[in-house]
Amino acid sequence: MNLIVIKILMLIVCAFVSGCASPSNAVAQETSNMEKKACKKSKKKNYSKNKESKDSDIRDSKQKFRSNRAMSRNERLDLIAKKMNLKPNQVVADIGAGRGIMTWRFAKAVGSGGKAIGIEVRESLVERMNEDAKDRNLPNYEAKLVPTDDPKLEANSTDVIFLKHAYHHISNRIPYFSNVKSALKSGGRLIIVDFSETSESFHRSTEDLVTKKQLVDELKQAGYKLIKEHDVLLPKDYFLEFEVAN
Ligand SMILES: C[S@@+](CC[C@H](N)C(=O)[O-])C[C@H]1O[C@@H](n2cnc3c(N)ncnc32)[C@H](O)[C@@H]1O
Repeated sequence: MNLIVIKILMLIVCAFVSGCASPSNAVAQETSNMEKKACKKSKKKNYSKNKESKDSDIRDSKQKFRSNRAMSRNERLDLIAKKMNLKPNQVVADIGAGRGIMTWRFAKAVGSGGKAIGIEVRESLVERMNEDAKDRNLPNYEAKLVPTDDPKLEANSTDVIFLKHAYHHISNRIPYFSNVKSALKSGGRLIIVDFSETSESFHRSTEDLVTKKQLVDELKQAGYKLIKEHDVLLPKDYFLEFEVAN
C-alpha cells in the first residue's frame, strides 16, 4: 500500500517537474531565437547605416568636386588663400609668384602689420608686382628679384613660404629647400600647390611633373614633414602643408 502511494507521489512529482521544465526550456529557446533575430536585424541595420554614411561621403566628395570645377578661377584662388588660414601680422613669401595673383591676396589676409613678398627670377614680373601693389594700395606687398638657386629670405623671418605651380620649376630642390628652412620662424609652414598626375592643365613635358609622392619624399630629405593635405583642388592640383621636422 505504502509502495503504491510512493509510486503515485513520484509520478506526480515527475509530471510536475517535466511540466515545468519543458515550457521554461521552450521559453529560453524562444528568447534565444528572438535575441539572435534582433542581433541579425541590428547588424543589418548597422551595415545599411554604415553603407548609407559611406555613400553619403562619396556623394559629398563628388558634389565637392563638381562645385569646385564650377568655381571661377578667382574663387579658386580665394579659396586657397582662405584654406591657408593666415593670421594678421604674419609674413608670407610667395616663391615663383609670377604676376602675384596670390601675393596680393596674402597681403590683404595678413593686414598692414604683416607682409607678403612676391619672389621672382624674372624682372618684368617683379616690376608688374610692384605696380600691382601700388594700384591696390597695399604697402605691405613687396616684390623681390632673386637668383634661381636662392630666394634670399632672411633667417627666422617668415611664417609661411608658399609656392603655386612653381615647385617643379626649381632645380636642385633638396638643397634649395634645405636652405630655405632657416627662413621659417618657429611653427612656420611651407605650403605647396602643384599639378597632380591627373591634371588636364599640365601641358608641359611629364618629365617636369613632380608627383605628390615625389614631392613628399624630396621634402622629407630636405627636412620637412607633411602636416596637412587639402582636398579642395583635387583632382587638378595637390595642396599640401609641411613644417620643419624635428
Ligand atoms: C607657372 S608660374 C606660376 C606663377 C604663380 N605662382 C601662379 O600660380 O600664377 C612659375 C613661376 O616661377 C618662376 N620661377 C621659376 N624658377 C624660379 C626660381 N628658381 N625661383 C623663383 N621663381 C622661379 C617663373 O618665373 C614663373 O613666374
